Amino acid sequence: MPDSYADLSRFYDLVMTSGYYDYDAYARALLARIGTGRDVLELGVGTGLVADRLLALGPKDLRLTGIDHTDSMLAQARDRLGDRARLRREGVLDMSLPAAFDVAYSVGGVWYIVEEGKESWLSSHLMEEEDNESGLTNLAAAIRPGGSLLLSVQGPHRRADRTLPGGMVYTQHVEVDPEGRHTKDYFIEDQGLVVTHQRLRFRLFPRETADRLLGRCGFHLQESDGVLWRYIRR
Ligand SMILES: C[S@@+](CC[C@H](N)C(=O)[O-])C[C@H]1O[C@@H](n2cnc3c(N)ncnc32)[C@H](O)[C@@H]1O
Repeated sequence: MPDSYADLSRFYDLVMTSGYYDYDAYARALLARIGTGRDVLELGVGTGLVADRLLALGPKDLRLTGIDHTDSMLAQARDRLGDRARLRREGVLDMSLPAAFDVAYSVGGVWYIVEEGKESWLSSHLMEEEDNESGLTNLAAAIRPGGSLLLSVQGPHRRADRTLPGGMVYTQHVEVDPEGRHTKDYFIEDQGLVVTHQRLRFRLFPRETADRLLGRCGFHLQESDGVLWRYIRR
């Protein structure tokens, strides 16, 4: 669904920089795997938080393109990144990018990995397997053969709440059906009043299903650790 982060977007940075993700750590891990690659694509660039750290810590000649389908997230990314990155309003189902990228990555973006103990899942903002196949096929067309897809790793979605700097309270509620479809409600409260409610849906595909899906689209897993999984585009 386009514009899926519209309601949360004005509080996004406040929530995310209050301990949700460690952006410096993700940027350093990405750079270690990007290596000599220079044409890099971020899937679900959001407000540009990871991209900003990647550009600050990475080589000066890194050419970064970010896509996202939520206007209000991209507007913040444009403010943050200026002309340091190319930003495009595109969804993965309709993106048309040149077949030019050495590396594509997603940090909590369109796709990422969820791990709990020895189990792992591919988490996707796309609910249907056919849509994931279309999106990953589009993505494979944008990455040169031998290039990489890097997906961030995070823990499972659970109910949580946290007081944010300035005193507002962030709460997330999660419901899961037997097919791995997650409905996640995010609330921001200010002095007991809900000032924002965002509902998002994710689908978690078990490891075997994910391997088959990614394999059909031309990706095979090369290495994985608790921070990033690297798939090679055949
Ligand atoms: C949790 S945010 C992650 C943003 C950023 N990577 C970060 O770490 O802060 C997920 C982003 O993915 C975008 N997104 C979700 N589904 C998408 C799709 N199908 N095509 C393009 N962008 C999508 C959302 O609009 C949102 O900005």
